[in-house]
Amino acid sequence: MPKPKFERRGANPRTAFADLWPGQSVALLKALHILTRDGALNADSRRKLKQVLHLAQLIKPALDWALAERGEPVLADLGAGKSYLGFILYDLYFAKAGKGIVYGVEARPDLVATARRIAEESGFDRMRFVESSIAKAVLPGGVADIVTALHACDTATDEAILFALRHDAKFIALVPCCQAEVAATLEGSQGAMRQLWRHPIQRREFGAHLTNVLRGLFLEAHGYKVRVTELTGLEHSLKNEFIFAERHQRSNPQARAEFEKLSAEMGAAPSLLRLSV
Ligand SMILES: C[S@@+](CC[C@H](N)C(=O)[O-])C[C@H]1O[C@@H](n2cnc3c(N)ncnc32)[C@H](O)[C@@H]1O
Repeated sequence: MPKPKFERRGANPRTAFADLWPGQSVALLKALHILTRDGALNADSRRKLKQVLHLAQLIKPALDWALAERGEPVLADLGAGKSYLGFILYDLYFAKAGKGIVYGVEARPDLVATARRIAEESGFDRMRFVESSIAKAVLPGGVADIVTALHACDTATDEAILFALRHDAKFIALVPCCQAEVAATLEGSQGAMRQLWRHPIQRREFGAHLTNVLRGLFLEAHGYKVRVTELTGLEHSLKNEFIFAERHQRSNPQARAEFEKLSAEMGAAPSLLRLSV
C-alpha cells in the first residue's frame, strides 16, 4: 500500500484529500464527521485522522498476518468511542480483503447506536458493536486475533490487556491515556525516590511512565514481545506512547519477576495487572 501523505493544509475541501490514503472512502469520513459535508478537515479532525492513520500503518504487519493466516480474522477495538479506528481499518483493510470481523467495544450506548447506524448505511456488514465495559466484554467465539485500544482512559487500558489475554490475542496495540491510578498511589509514598514525583505534573508524568513500563513487563510476563515507540508527533506527549505486543510464547517467568520486583520497590502498580500477573 502506498505511504500516506500528511501535508499540513488548511481546512479546504480541495486540499483536505491530501491527508487521506488513496482509496479511502470519503463518504465514510463524512458520515463519521471527520470530513465536513463540503469535504473539509478542521484542525481537531486532522489530528485524529493523523493518529488513526499512523496506527493503521503501524499495525499493518499484524493485519497482514491475520488476513493471510486466519480464515475469518477478528479485530477488537476497545473503548472504541466513535469507532473512527474500527471504521477506518475496516475501510482500508477488511472491506478490500472481503473477510474478517471488526468489533467495537464501547460502554456508551449513544456511541454504539450511532456506530451501528453508520456501519449499516456504509454496508459494512462485518462490523459489530458490543455495548459493554471492556472488563465484562466477551466476543462471540471468544477469540480476537488483534486487539487495539486507542486512548482508552486510565485503567480501561488495563482492562484491554486482560481482554486480550482472555481472547488469546496474537497482537495487541495500545495507545494509553490519562493514567491516573498509579500517580494517585505514588502521592503517599515515602523515601528518597519521592523527589522524582514531588510536584503534581511530575507525579502525573512519572505515574504514566511507570504505568506503561509495568504494562510492558506484564505483557512480556504473558509471553508477548513488546515494542514501545511514539505514535505521532509530540503534540500529545502524555497520549503518544504506542505499545505493540506480539505473542510468541505462553509465559516468561523472568519478566513476571521483574514486574513484581519493580511494583514492590515503587509501592505502586496498575491494580488489575498486579492481581493477574
Ligand atoms: C478518549 S475516548 C477514545 C475513543 C476512541 N478510541 C478514539 O481514540 O477516538 C475513550 C472511550 O472509551 C470509553 N471507555 C472508557 N472506559 C471504558 C471501559 N472501561 N469500557 C468500555 N468503554 C470505555 C469511553 O466511553 C470513551 O468513548
